[in-house]
Amino acid sequence: MKIGPYVLPSNVLLAPMAGVTDRPFRMLCRRFGAGLAASEMLTADVRLWDTAKSRRRMDHDGEPSPRVVQIAGVDPSMMAEAARRNVDAGAQIIDINMGCPAKKVCNRLAGSALMQDEELVARILHSVVAAVPVPVTLKTRTGWDAAHKNGIRIARIAEDIGIQALAIHGRTRADFYQGFAEHETVAAIKAAVKIPVIANGDIDSPRRALQVLHATGCDGVMIGRAAQGRPWIFDEVNFFLATGESRAGLALEKVRDIMRAHLEDLYAFYGDETGVRVARKHLSWYLRQHPGQEADALRNRLVRIGSPQEQLSMLLEHYDSCVYRAA
Ligand SMILES: Cc1cc2nc3c(=O)[nH]c(=O)nc-3n(C[C@H](O)[C@H](O)[C@H](O)COP(=O)(O)O)c2cc1C
Repeated sequence: MKIGPYVLPSNVLLAPMAGVTDRPFRMLCRRFGAGLAASEMLTADVRLWDTAKSRRRMDHDGEPSPRVVQIAGVDPSMMAEAARRNVDAGAQIIDINMGCPAKKVCNRLAGSALMQDEELVARILHSVVAAVPVPVTLKTRTGWDAAHKNGIRIARIAEDIGIQALAIHGRTRADFYQGFAEHETVAAIKAAVKIPVIANGDIDSPRRALQVLHATGCDGVMIGRAAQGRPWIFDEVNFFLATGESRAGLALEKVRDIMRAHLEDLYAFYGDETGVRVARKHLSWYLRQHPGQEADALRNRLVRIGSPQEQLSMLLEHYDSCVYRAA
């Protein structure tokens, strides 16, 4: 799949997730074969950028190309300015978020609430496309609610304005995350435009990725929640799409080494205190892969720990004892 001048190494992409897809996680997923990994969304209001959180969201040091920055906002000129500044800081693709249903986003920033106002959508897209010399992509949903699935119209507007790829989450804004994603509307959107379309929503296995690609005719798939605690899913999906075969499960030692490297990256990126806090969330996702009382007990102990050394050594002890018993 190609976005502007960039040929992606895979058509299986990491979905942007605020609070999850920080630089360490994006780089981890790219190492496992994600074709692209957009940053966590950044508000278009540049006055709010002078915080540690925003500065971290703008940190792309060492990330492989192409670097995608996602921006969200309602004001066309602010969106243009945000896009320009990010390109000056090294963004190679700008992604516009019109897919997020979170209340805070809809009240203060934008997200999928914008789908109600197609004229404003057009002005925002036009303003950003005209402001930067790099490809601009759009992430959105199938519509505002079940009675207003205007995803096709939005996709055509976007294509006419010069948006270079679309990612479509197969839910409406009103669905939030309830029920199951439906990909029929995603297929209709793909059929209505010529630019690459990426299907998103509830893709949690290599087989599901293949089914969705077949059912929609889309150019790629985007995986969000299923990559939490399982960044190697990109390798599993890529392998299955290429060969039709399933990868053997990862050995415990390998999982332990992935977690250790991930934790060390988090401590280095956030500093000890925040790093330990962010790591807890990822640890609990990793431990979900090994359900059982032992994992539950470890999770409970890990959430009470405040130092990186203790967190890491408790985790390693647990895994080493599991590896020893499995041997
Ligand atoms: C914790 C979390 C944070 C998210 N943050 C963003 C975001 O910043 N920008 C965005 O476009 N979508 C965001 N999303 C939506 C995801 O990108 C994706 O569209 C959605 O989770 C459906 O894909 P999945 O079923 O593979 O998770 C977020 C989702 C989750 C679960």
